[in-house]
Amino acid sequence: MDSLNTVHGVPAILPIWVSRYPGVTKQGERAHSMGMSVMEGHMSEPSTIDDEALSRVVAVINGKGGVLKTSIVANVAGRLADSGMRVLAVDLDVSGNLKLDFGLVDSSDDDNGKGIVDAVWNGTQLPVVRDARPNLDFVFGGRALEVLGQLSRTPTAVDDLPTGSVGGECAARLAEIADDYDMIFLDCPPGNGDLQDMALAATRWVLIPTKTDPASWDGLRGVGPRVKRARRANPSVRYLGVVVTAHNPAATRVQRNTKTRLDEVGETVPLFDAFIRHSETAAHDCRSRGQLAHELADDAQELKGRRLAFLAARRRGNQSNVITLPTALSASAGGLAGDYTRLAEEICQRVTAAEQSTTVTAGAQA
Ligand SMILES: Nc1ncnc2c1ncn2[C@@H]1O[C@H](COP(=O)(O)OP(=O)(O)O)[C@@H](O)[C@H]1O
Ligand SMILES: [Mg+2]
Repeated sequence: MDSLNTVHGVPAILPIWVSRYPGVTKQGERAHSMGMSVMEGHMSEPSTIDDEALSRVVAVINGKGGVLKTSIVANVAGRLADSGMRVLAVDLDVSGNLKLDFGLVDSSDDDNGKGIVDAVWNGTQLPVVRDARPNLDFVFGGRALEVLGQLSRTPTAVDDLPTGSVGGECAARLAEIADDYDMIFLDCPPGNGDLQDMALAATRWVLIPTKTDPASWDGLRGVGPRVKRARRANPSVRYLGVVVTAHNPAATRVQRNTKTRLDEVGETVPLFDAFIRHSETAAHDCRSRGQLAHELADDAQELKGRRLAFLAARRRGNQSNVITLPTALSASAGGLAGDYTRLAEEICQRVTAAEQSTTVTAGAQA
């Protein structure tokens, strides 16, 4: 049984950051710096991309599929929302897998990404679906997004866009709603380079999940040149870090090699101390039930209690054999949930540290 101060055996520190670092919940802070009250909402339509508005956007990206990009977006967003932060998760993948992790497969709001296309192409608002979880909003992706890739490669078409690019429009639409959120996560597609470039134009932070196999490293190395190109239009884009996924903690040699191989990326890309353990059963249970790891862990714990009570009753002869034993859920869900909590914590710490050093620098220059 978790104590009040722990979640699945991991210290429940997320709510503490919120109060310890005033910058983590930013409602009001930016409004203040723009000289208006929170109640006033947005000022007039931005004519250029509001780079400051995108300062809490994190693109989760790797050119390789299956490295847990989608799982990380869902679970980190879910943990932060659970801790009281306002979070938006945007699915920029044509596979539209993010909805599986949130259990939104049969949602009548699912437009397969058409709303994102419309927002980028016609300047409509991003179709935000409220309350996928408490404090967590969601934008559906899917196969309709393919068309954005094609359009981005048609110069005559993009020239007519107000910002002159698909990435610029995506950034502008996100900037319009970014004030509503403490953190925004973009789930990027592995195969579609145009959509990856669009995401990199609209993000401050780049988070790269990787397994330790050669194909994942190839995917990771492919991110570097894209980030470099993205800097032409989005000079503020920065690496948040690389996180090792589907990891076996006993493989210490692999861990050492990971640090060495990061130098090959060509820029300083920090490695997260947190990693996501290999846990196929828990991951399968999560996706098939539309649950996040910490939700599955809660259910698994509860079911374990019911199974034990049932077995004890049967031993005492109190229970009819007709009642079936409740199905067990993955016992590793709690450990997996703890990994996502630690990653969420480190993400917040890095973003906050960067913001605090910017504030100190700006203060020193004033
Ligand atoms: N911790 C884990 N251990 C093993 N497999 C996992 C884990 N987390 C997720 N998976 C599985 O790996 C596959 C790819 O995960 P996903 O998050 O969709 O990756 P990506 O978005 O990079 O393609 C999915 O089938 C998922 O169930
Ligand atoms: Mg994915």
